[in-house]
Amino acid sequence: MRSHLLNDTTAEQYRRSVTDGVERVAAKLATTERPFTGVTVDALAPAIDAIDLDKPLHDTAAVLDELEDVYLRDAVYFHHPRYLAHLNCPVVIPAVLGEAVLSAVNSSLDTWDQSAGGTLIERKLIDWTNERIGLGPAADGVFTSGGTQSNLQALLLAREEAKTDTLAKLRIFASEVSHFSVKKSAKLLGLGQDAVVSIPVDHDKRMQTVALARELERCKQDGLVPMAVVATAGTTDFGSIDPLPEIAELCEQFGTWMHVDAAYGCGLLASLKHRDRLNGIERADSVTVDYHKSFFQPVSSSAVLVRDAATLRHATYHAEYLNPRRMVEERIPNQVDKSLQTTRRFDALKLWMTLRTMGADGIGQLFDEVCELAREGWKLLAGDPRFDVVVEPSLSTLVFRYIPAAVTDPAEIDRANLYARKALFASGDAIIAGTKVGARHYLKFTLLNPETQASDIAAVLDLIAGHAEQYLGESLDRAS
Ligand SMILES: Cc1ncc(COP(=O)(O)O)c(C=O)c1O
Repeated sequence: MRSHLLNDTTAEQYRRSVTDGVERVAAKLATTERPFTGVTVDALAPAIDAIDLDKPLHDTAAVLDELEDVYLRDAVYFHHPRYLAHLNCPVVIPAVLGEAVLSAVNSSLDTWDQSAGGTLIERKLIDWTNERIGLGPAADGVFTSGGTQSNLQALLLAREEAKTDTLAKLRIFASEVSHFSVKKSAKLLGLGQDAVVSIPVDHDKRMQTVALARELERCKQDGLVPMAVVATAGTTDFGSIDPLPEIAELCEQFGTWMHVDAAYGCGLLASLKHRDRLNGIERADSVTVDYHKSFFQPVSSSAVLVRDAATLRHATYHAEYLNPRRMVEERIPNQVDKSLQTTRRFDALKLWMTLRTMGADGIGQLFDEVCELAREGWKLLAGDPRFDVVVEPSLSTLVFRYIPAAVTDPAEIDRANLYARKALFASGDAIIAGTKVGARHYLKFTLLNPETQASDIAAVLDLIAGHAEQYLGESLDRAS
């Protein structure tokens, strides 16, 4: 069994095993014709159920053959140009290389004595990101597992900085289309049920600052404490960017922590053309960035950044076995002092490899391309009478719905759109997402693949229309 341990004696076996795996994936990527096979849970589950985990195969090739059947063949492939669903990007090769290195060396970024250079690399990337944001000389931050955790940590710091001992008095203000992790965080942080005040958005799905000002004022009048405003720079559904400078003004006026959730919009930090869309972000107290959304990084790669490094102390606990207090005096950099996690992956290495190989401009160029593609897609949709499109894209999402000429019942139109999304998924020809706008069901493209062409968008729209028409035709038959 020791032959499976990665060490000085098994370097050749390591090389062979990993190369075998890489070959399989490379072959798969080269031959995948559709983003998905359309396999159903019922069809796939028996194959996985039948595997006896207590009877190992002992042979890498056999394990990879089995993996082909239970995973690789039917996986959802984000690199395919017709994967248009969620905020998943195709990944860049330098980052995948970083992933291979980091799992083999297996540094843990909690303490210097488990990572050495890894700690310094992570710190440098945090500084780099902070410089791009413009958070100032006292800024700091830490890598996290994702936007959800980054938002949670930011709101934890905001809670600790708020001037009250009564959790029930704390209020967080976020737009009605902000990410659900804001509400989840409020719950995890022990705030009251009414803690998150939902602020309406304008026609472009941006937070209405007049409404925000009114709610902040009301909060004060009611003797409550405005703990934080969460501005979203790139909402999950619409890619809309809240008016950051106006929100920053209000936060200053009301003495409120400003958090910017730029999980999606952070790609603009590298943009060659549209960095100005994030203007105002430099006034935040904390920022969430998800490199695994718009920096083309593999899951996971995210960070929470803060204007004032001292606020990270709210996440600091000392354990004698790991990071005793004396290490702070000895100036030993233990990242666990800043993190909600203890053992932590060296995800920063992926971004490091990316920046050292491609440079930030390379990433920015790819993100600019998908934003441009979204504009082309919007023009297609706006000029097509079969579809209603919700807002012009600020980033790279399109929310729209099929509107058949002959049908006026909105509920029936809802059903046709829901059917089209499901049918498309079952066919595997393309994968799209969906959401609700008001009470109505809409469809969504999240465009994060520069390989997707306007012709792919046009083709998928035709497929959607075809499936929706099929549903409506069958629906008529059922009624008659
Ligand atoms: C705006 C926004 N914030 C936060 C998140 C949560 O990020 P994660 O899925 O990395 O936890 C998302 C995910 O889509 C998001 O769109």
